[in-house]
Order: sequence, then structure tokens, then C-alpha cells
Amino acid sequence: MKRRHFIKKSALLSSTVLVPVLNSCKSIVSNIDTSNNKYPGRVRSAHIGVGGMGLEDLKAISSHVSVDVTALCDVDSNYLEIAHDMFPKAKIYKDYRVMLKELRNVIDAVVISTPDHTHAPASLMAMEMNKAVYCQKPLTHHVTEARAMKKLASDRNLITQMGIQVHSFYDYKLATLLIQSGIIGKVSTVHAWSPKNWGFDGDIPKGSDPIPDHLDWNLWLGTSPKRPYKEGFYHPMNWRKILDYGCGTLGDMGVHIFDTPYNALALDVPSTIKTQCRQPTGFGFPEKNVVTYEFPGTKYTTKNFKWIWYDGEGAPAKHKDLMLPNNSQLHDQGAMFIGEKGNLYLPHFELMPKLIVNGNYKEIDTTKFNLEPIRDYETEAPKHYHQFIDACLGKDTCSAPFSYASRLTETILLGVIAQRFPNTTLNWDSKNGKFAEEEANVFLDATYRNF
Ligand SMILES: NC(=O)c1ccc[n+]([C@@H]2O[C@H](COP(=O)([O-])OP(=O)(O)OC[C@H]3O[C@@H](n4cnc5c(N)ncnc54)[C@H](O)[C@@H]3O)[C@@H](O)[C@H]2O)c1
Repeated sequence: MKRRHFIKKSALLSSTVLVPVLNSCKSIVSNIDTSNNKYPGRVRSAHIGVGGMGLEDLKAISSHVSVDVTALCDVDSNYLEIAHDMFPKAKIYKDYRVMLKELRNVIDAVVISTPDHTHAPASLMAMEMNKAVYCQKPLTHHVTEARAMKKLASDRNLITQMGIQVHSFYDYKLATLLIQSGIIGKVSTVHAWSPKNWGFDGDIPKGSDPIPDHLDWNLWLGTSPKRPYKEGFYHPMNWRKILDYGCGTLGDMGVHIFDTPYNALALDVPSTIKTQCRQPTGFGFPEKNVVTYEFPGTKYTTKNFKWIWYDGEGAPAKHKDLMLPNNSQLHDQGAMFIGEKGNLYLPHFELMPKLIVNGNYKEIDTTKFNLEPIRDYETEAPKHYHQFIDACLGKDTCSAPFSYASRLTETILLGVIAQRFPNTTLNWDSKNGKFAEEEANVFLDATYRNF
């Protein structure tokens, strides 16, 4: 089933929903229908995927004083049990479609922390029911899904937030203000790197393993093609390495590390993308990638701007742009902004940006920026989540709504697609949502399985 048919089907499912009166005010408004909420001023949350990051998301969302955890859903009963022990009053489900249909009148916000291929199907269904959605990064698995989520959020005026919690950390906000204040002049290049390896160069595993009793494999596969279960290959976590479910290291870490440059430099979508990596196998992502994006210039960049991403091996140790003063060591993961007047180094994560001018570190005067000073990272961590809940209550606005997250995700996904065409420059036509290279266009859209 093509994605648009799935969306239509979800729309039909929700056609009997009491559609809340959407508030069309431009400023900070909540579009949550609390008319049937026994506890006005509270947000009733439903969580899809409560193991791994989902458990962290559950803890962070529920740490807001105005949240009632109302429902928990997971295809793995072991994870569901752990979460249910923490929130025994919540209703539990293994199929998010059943949960959303049954509880549509008693939940306000849906938190989606599943593997990437399920982000859009679950989000779109919740959004069709006019729910506020907090969805993990990358927003989607396919470019057309990101565009559909952006459109639906905008059409329905929904509260949305992508799960890039470091976006709300002090050091990233400071780096954005520094870049936009012109501290290093116009930026020509950003290098960004991670030595993580969410790739797999091997062949498709042969045969199948017994499906554990605690896992519903059909529901885990969801809209993706049917595939035999193999222990340790997909669930949990390793799905990131596989084309059908994840987005490789670029999709995993690139979203976090590129977020600040993307935001600070007011970038939109790239014009060209080129990846250096091994030939495609049709199963896993390449274990090592260098991806070069070219963007049209913005007011913060030179006329042509380049973003270069390195994963697998991490940063090229001897690159002249990446030499630090006093021979100090680069952090494992991070980004380096190359400007006309100096460089700004932003290690990932929980470290302050550093200014480098003429080969030396230079003190940064932060007093002129109107930023709440950092206390500790424990208090920084829930900020992004609480901002989402406060937005649901009409008290704040989200800083990574789907209007922003979809563009960032689209950019990342174009690089993910380029990994299927090593050493080839792909030309992106953002207006029409197509590559000039017809053979790459087939990877923009998802084909959904009925499950
Ligand atoms: N923002 C961050 O810092 C951060 C960190 C880690 C992971 N993530 C994101 O969180 C998401 C999950 O990653 P993870 O590492 O926790 O993966 P994981 O495989 O460890 O956990 C996924 C959880 O979702 C459940 N699940 C899978 N399919 C489901 C479905 N259809 N319905 C309900 N539950 C389902 C699994 O059983 C498991 O509990 C990914 O999108 C990942 O990119 C974000």
C-alpha cells in the first residue's frame, strides 16, 4: 500500500472522531481538546515504544507535573511490563492502531519512540485524530513521509516536537547565537563527525530463528516488508543498520550533530549531495561514509556552503580545518564551523562551544546573550520534553516542531539515499521534491505493507 493510501485509511478511521475546534491564533495556543478531560490543565499521554529511548522519553515526559500517563504500547511484552510497573494505572497495548482507536477521546498527546520505519505510520494516524505528537528523530524513514507530516501538522495546527532533546540545551543555543552574531563571520563549511558504526557490510542473514514469546514480530515489522526473524539482527537497536528500518549513522547521529549548524545558519534544503562509501548491497547501510552536501548561501554563510559528514572512522585526523590549538585532541563526535574570521568548535555533547582565531582559543563573552545560564545537564535534559507539554497547555512554543524537523530530516534522508549511489553527485529539486537523477527518486517514497 502506498503511503498516501495509508494516510487516507487513517483519515477514514478517524472520521468519526470529535474533531476539536482548531484554534487559529498565531501566537502560543494549544489545540488540544480538553472538553472531555476530567482534569483540565492536564495532558494525558500515550506512549508508543517504551523500551530503549522510549523509556527515557516516558520518564522525561512524565516528570512534568501536568502529565497523566494514560496508555503504554509496545510490541515486546518485556519492555511493556517494565513501563507498566512504573505506571500501573496506564492501559497497555501491543498494537498502536488499537490503542489510538480505543483511546482517541481520552488521550491528548502521543509520544512515538519506535524504530524509524514506524515513526510516520504511527504519527500520521495520531495526527489525523488531532493529537499533539512528540516523535523521535529522525522524524521519518522516507522524504515523502516527512513532507506529509509537515503538511498535516500545519493543516491541523497541531502541537508537534521532534525528539532532539539537545536542541534545547544551553550549549547548542549559545552556539546558534554566537554564529548568528557573526563571531566568525560568514561560514563557508561545516565539518561534522561521529565514529559510530550503524552500518552493516555483510549479506542478508540466511534462515530464520524462533520468534521469542515476548515479541510480536508482525507488529514490529509494521508497514515494512515481511522478513524472517533473526536474533540480534534487528530488534532491539540493530535495526538502525538495516535499510528497511533505520537510516544508518547519518540518520542516527547526523540529525543531532547537524541540528545546530542547520538551525544557526538558517539552511533550507541542499542542492547537491554526494557520498563516498562502498557499493550498495541492498540490505545494510555502508559502515563508513563521507557525505558532502552543497547548499545555496544564506545570510549567515558564504555564497556556496558545504556540509561534510564523516562516520564510521570519524573525523579525518589530519584535516587542516580540524587541527585544534595546543595539539589538543578532537572529541569523538562534534562539528567545526569554518568562518571568514575564525572557527567555532562544538563538541557533541554536553560541552561548551570554543572559539578559535588564528590558531588559538579565544575567550567568548556570553554575557551579551540573553540566555539562562546553565546549571547542570540533569536540569537541561527534560527541557525539550517539558516545552512540548507546556505547548500543549498553551504556555510555550515548541522549538523543533515538524515544520522545522521535516526539513532537517529531509536533508539528512537525501544523504541516506545518496549512500545507494556512491561517488555520484545527486541534484535535488526541492520545489518538486525530486532528484534530477531519476533512478534515485524511487527511494523517496515508502510502500506500506498491510499488517
Ligand atoms: N533523541 C535521542 O537522543 C535518541 C537516542 C536513542 C534513540 N533515539 C530514537 O528513538 C527511537 C527508538 O530507538 P531505540 O534505540 O530505543 O530502539 P530500540 O529498538 O532499543 O527500542 C524500540 C522500542 O520500540 C518498541 N517497538 C518497536 N516497534 C514497535 C511498534 N510498532 N509499536 C510499539 N512499540 C514498538 C520496541 O519493542 C522497543 O521497546 C529511534 O527513532 C531512535 O532514533 C533517540
